[in-house]
Amino acid sequence: MSRYCTNRLKGIEGYIPGEQPQEQSVIKLNTNENPYPPTEKILGFLKNISLENLRKYPDPLSIELRKKIAETYDLPSHEWVIVGNGMDDIISIVIRTFIDFGEIISATYPTYTLYEVLAKIHGYDFIYHELDDNFELHPPFLWGKSKLIFITHPNAPSGVPVHPVVMEKVCNEKDKLIFIDEAYAEFSEFNYLRWVLKYSNLIVGRTFSKSFSLAGIRLGFAVANPELTRDMLKVKDSYNVNYITQMIGILALEDIEYSNSNIKKIKSTRESLRNSLINLGFTVPNSHSNFLLAIWEKENPKAQEIYIRLKEKNIFVRYFPQRRLENAIRITIGTEEQSKTLIEALKDILSR
Ligand SMILES: Cc1ncc(COP(=O)(O)O)c(C=O)c1O
Repeated sequence: MSRYCTNRLKGIEGYIPGEQPQEQSVIKLNTNENPYPPTEKILGFLKNISLENLRKYPDPLSIELRKKIAETYDLPSHEWVIVGNGMDDIISIVIRTFIDFGEIISATYPTYTLYEVLAKIHGYDFIYHELDDNFELHPPFLWGKSKLIFITHPNAPSGVPVHPVVMEKVCNEKDKLIFIDEAYAEFSEFNYLRWVLKYSNLIVGRTFSKSFSLAGIRLGFAVANPELTRDMLKVKDSYNVNYITQMIGILALEDIEYSNSNIKKIKSTRESLRNSLINLGFTVPNSHSNFLLAIWEKENPKAQEIYIRLKEKNIFVRYFPQRRLENAIRITIGTEEQSKTLIEALKDILSR
């Protein structure tokens, strides 16, 4: 750490994303990407891309894309939508827009660690509300005077959804701002996107990285009452979504049926993979996401060793060396074929 670095950064690791091996031979089940390619309609656009449009700056307000999102999700207008360089950008904008020094941010535990990392980088206090043994959220909530609450539905890395009765209690805390992170909601049986129409203290975040198979273009969005999106527009970087990404986002939404068909396949693979993992002795919460948390309470091998041995076999899953997750690996749902290879590898590892 340099001597110029802020005191706030002392003791903070920074957010560490999953490994990104580039070799084609690797079975990559560690960062919840979609195993299927995005819609081919994008190729037509990329082949005929106009250099003139690359010469110019993109629309700083991404109006056409925001209109398309509003139309797709049946929202009153594009003013209910803000877009970002992935949902990570949206999360950062939310914190920078709404939190002052001395104010507190909260999330449930365990969850996506970026919320805490960003809060700490800005020097804000952070409180976790512990989930129960089944990774479910229950009141009474322990976030006290927190101003901004991150709720991940379905949660990561468990895949467990938040029940509507509980979510209603959360959203009814009207003095707080609620951010529901729905990065994986397309794989769930229910979602809260349209609750923004009845709760003016609610922001719902989505991403194109998972259900639309577009992690590489970096596109996320949030929906909320225009009173909130107008504040957020003041804080975002001027050109936070580039021209190519704006265009590809519109094309992906025009072909949403295609991504829905991939979601269907992934959900079916998720159920068969879950059964196979349970048969091998794992405990696996019922996931509403495109991943499974496979909990392994036994020794020899421990969960971390399983992760390492899978890696030696060129299968990358995710291991989180943190409280409550030491005995688990998180597995992204790949293709049926990848699932079969994974199960064979696990059988081999566990039989030694
Ligand atoms: C819960 C959760 N929120 C947000 C994100 C960020 O998504 P994006 O790729 O749009 O930045 C992720 C990415 O894995 C995630 O797991």
